[in-house]
Amino acid sequence: MAALDTIRTLLPRELRRRAASLSELLALLPHVKNPLVLGEMVPSLARGMLLGQARLGESASMVSGHGAHFLWSYDSDFPELRELYRQAKQSQWDSESALDWSLDVDPLDPERALLPRSFFPVEGLAAMGVTLSEAEQRRFIHSMTAWMLSQFLHGEQGALFAAAQVTESVGWMDAKLYGSTQVVDEGRHVETFHRYLATKLEKLYTVNDNLFVIIDALITDPRWDMKFLGMQIMIEGLALGAFGTLYRLTREPLLRELLGYVIRDEARHVAFGVIALRDHLARLSERERREREDWAFEVALLMRNRFLVHEVYEEWFEGSFSRRRWNELVSASPGMREFRSVMFARLIPNLRYIGLMPERVQRRYEAAGMMQFFEGAHAAELSGERLLAELTHGPSTLPPSE
Ligand SMILES: [Fe+2]
Ligand SMILES: [Fe+2]
Repeated sequence: MAALDTIRTLLPRELRRRAASLSELLALLPHVKNPLVLGEMVPSLARGMLLGQARLGESASMVSGHGAHFLWSYDSDFPELRELYRQAKQSQWDSESALDWSLDVDPLDPERALLPRSFFPVEGLAAMGVTLSEAEQRRFIHSMTAWMLSQFLHGEQGALFAAAQVTESVGWMDAKLYGSTQVVDEGRHVETFHRYLATKLEKLYTVNDNLFVIIDALITDPRWDMKFLGMQIMIEGLALGAFGTLYRLTREPLLRELLGYVIRDEARHVAFGVIALRDHLARLSERERREREDWAFEVALLMRNRFLVHEVYEEWFEGSFSRRRWNELVSASPGMREFRSVMFARLIPNLRYIGLMPERVQRRYEAAGMMQFFEGAHAAELSGERLLAELTHGPSTLPPSE
């Protein structure tokens, strides 16, 4: 391993990145239970990790083979989704007027810290022989927070496109009407996160390779219910967990307010996902359902340790210690552990509710340490308000301040 690390340091940065991505991918292979799932993702993995398309140029094009499905009766055909559509129309907000953009944000102000120091692997850096001064620690936290919010922003763009695609493809009129509100919601999230990053944090990172691969796989998949499962349940579940953690821990008032608005919308999106998929999956054949059970588990595994903040490592510590040691440091940091825990606390009950966790796959989740969340509340019974109340008063493994 050490010899490989040495060879890697001799390569140009872009090649180093790709070699690192490839070796991390290879390290995942022994954990894969159904190679077919990974096989389906090979084109996206190649585009994201080998060709590095996420960082080539100002834009990326993806081709999708999904079909647009027209309905000519226009009658209401899914009362629960019609009700969600009604709620969504009444809950629209305008980022320009709802948020106080005149608030001055100083990302380095310890009194209104973006995130507590304990969230990040600051302590572990000392063991790597790196000591950061007080001012450097604040700048490091600024970089890490900007990286996370940048990935949220790119994820929101993926959610915007996926919502539009699902709106075209889905077979219920009420789901199309609901989907139209989600498209507006996601557009507003893109606008809001971008404005915060550009004008308040003044820092924007490119899309992470792993996130690019997942988005690419969902946007190019021709099956609407796979896009839906991947985006509404897996990615939105992850986002909701991450937004919730940040909402609870940040002391920066504008960021907290912004996240509160976004969380209310996202809670509705995940509810849309579980209500529609529960009904849809119950109608599939045994073979089709098994395929989706396997797919969900593999994607959950892929997502678990995939966000290792390499761009910040390259900016701050490349040359000081190896990428492998950074991976270990980030994976074990209190913040990342909290993210993982909250993310699966949201995801597992939803997979159970939609019928993708029969005993056959429960054993795999058990082995991966994710079954502790099995009995949690699913999205259809968790409103945005209840989520926010839980985040403000509920249990967590991290203190809300330093
Ligand atoms: Fe969103
Ligand atoms: Fe969303």
